[in-house]
Amino acid sequence: MIPQPTAHQALADQTFALASDATIGAAGPALQQIAEQLATQLRRSTGFALPVQDGAGTITLAQNGPDELGAEGYELRADTDGVTITAATSEGVFRGVTTLRQLLPAKAHADSPQEGPWEVTGTTITDSPRYSYRGMMLDVSRHFFTLDQVKHVIDLISLYKVNHLHLHLSDDQGWRIQVDSWPNLTEHGGSTQVGGGEGGYYTKAEYAELVQYASDRYITVVPEIDTPGHTNAALSSYPELNKGDLPPSLYTETEVGFSSFTIDKDVTYEFLDDVFREVAEQTPGDLLHLGGDEAHSTEHSEYLTFVAKATELVVKHGKRVMGWHEVADGPLPAGSVVQYWGTEDPKAQVLAQKAVEQGATLVLSPANRSYLDMKYDAETPLGLDWAGLVSVEQSYSWNPATLVPGVPASAIDGVEAPLWTETVDDVSKIEYLVFPRLPGIAELGWSAESALDWASYRDRLAEQGSRWEVLGVNFYRAPEIDWR
Ligand code: ACM
Repeated sequence: MIPQPTAHQALADQTFALASDATIGAAGPALQQIAEQLATQLRRSTGFALPVQDGAGTITLAQNGPDELGAEGYELRADTDGVTITAATSEGVFRGVTTLRQLLPAKAHADSPQEGPWEVTGTTITDSPRYSYRGMMLDVSRHFFTLDQVKHVIDLISLYKVNHLHLHLSDDQGWRIQVDSWPNLTEHGGSTQVGGGEGGYYTKAEYAELVQYASDRYITVVPEIDTPGHTNAALSSYPELNKGDLPPSLYTETEVGFSSFTIDKDVTYEFLDDVFREVAEQTPGDLLHLGGDEAHSTEHSEYLTFVAKATELVVKHGKRVMGWHEVADGPLPAGSVVQYWGTEDPKAQVLAQKAVEQGATLVLSPANRSYLDMKYDAETPLGLDWAGLVSVEQSYSWNPATLVPGVPASAIDGVEAPLWTETVDDVSKIEYLVFPRLPGIAELGWSAESALDWASYRDRLAEQGSRWEVLGVNFYRAPEIDWR
């Protein structure tokens, strides 16, 4: 299993076998929706009818679990009589169902009927996460990905109990979310991407569908509008946002650090007020990410002014601020979350410490560990290497609690693995860079510190390969792993 659960015990001679007359029992709409999701998948692979019924079934989902396990904790028991998953919340039940899917044979992920048996070795599991934030970021700006492509990513990451999807919705190369009050952002700013392809954007209806699809899998979408740098697409769409009112051309290459909003113009903040309002309206989660990274073309004192004003606008629209660690140099409102993307750079570490001194919490995305766009090794055909080569072991073997010197363990909300897409333009390339590294980051975010062990993880990861084969995932068969 990945992530490794908090506690599990084998039940001798208690193998559960899913049979053709099995039912799935669940009470109430939320649990019945989870039951239907499980049934839908298992009907495809087993060919069984698997009716979902009120109350108990062969597999029972119940919301009467202990509160001590928190919002995402659950208990699971599989024995000869059936499977029971209990939790205090529907979210906990969902995480437990994720575990059941991993306990079933790999062929249970198939999309056409397979031969049984459909056995689960008898077990009792008690499980809850170490951290509340376990994320993946997808950059849909450098290359645009359609609704169906993002849904596919959501399906895959939800298997590993990831609970946040951070969407990098704007950058120099493209603006990807409809904003009614500034329509040229998408009309013009969304019309291309790296390499000059046609780009694209999400209409409000599409974005709402995406947020709902994620929510149905207990994943919160964190939208990012990157500011004040990484803004060429916006600057190109509206002349008045520029210093001299002359808009730059659209940009389809991959350099960073050349663009900046105009810090001393009122229109900059009128623009952000509108954008943050419209994006916040589409965000049921409480975080709105305003970027803040690599503002190399913004004078530093102006950058600090900007952070103060822009964060205030996020708060005005009812959201907590999330930002890359550079924002910690400026004043942060209460409840802010700072995303650390440093390596062993002391300047980045000082900013993480400054964030904590201001009362912010941290999500950790160390580039030399968690950046999914780094090459695995020198031969990897895709990806970049500015933060180093990131093997599977390198991405797994670190401790979030002690990563940044001077930052107390209590300030860590969790971890996130970002996928920047300069070199990534289709789903098979996403899959190749995400798998097998993402499950390791997910385990660092979920499993107890005492459970983190490379030899154990490496062995468990080898078994996941058989699941990705069934799912048709184009994962990298890293030579570090003895794939089975
Ligand atoms: C970043 O990688 N510029 C956050």
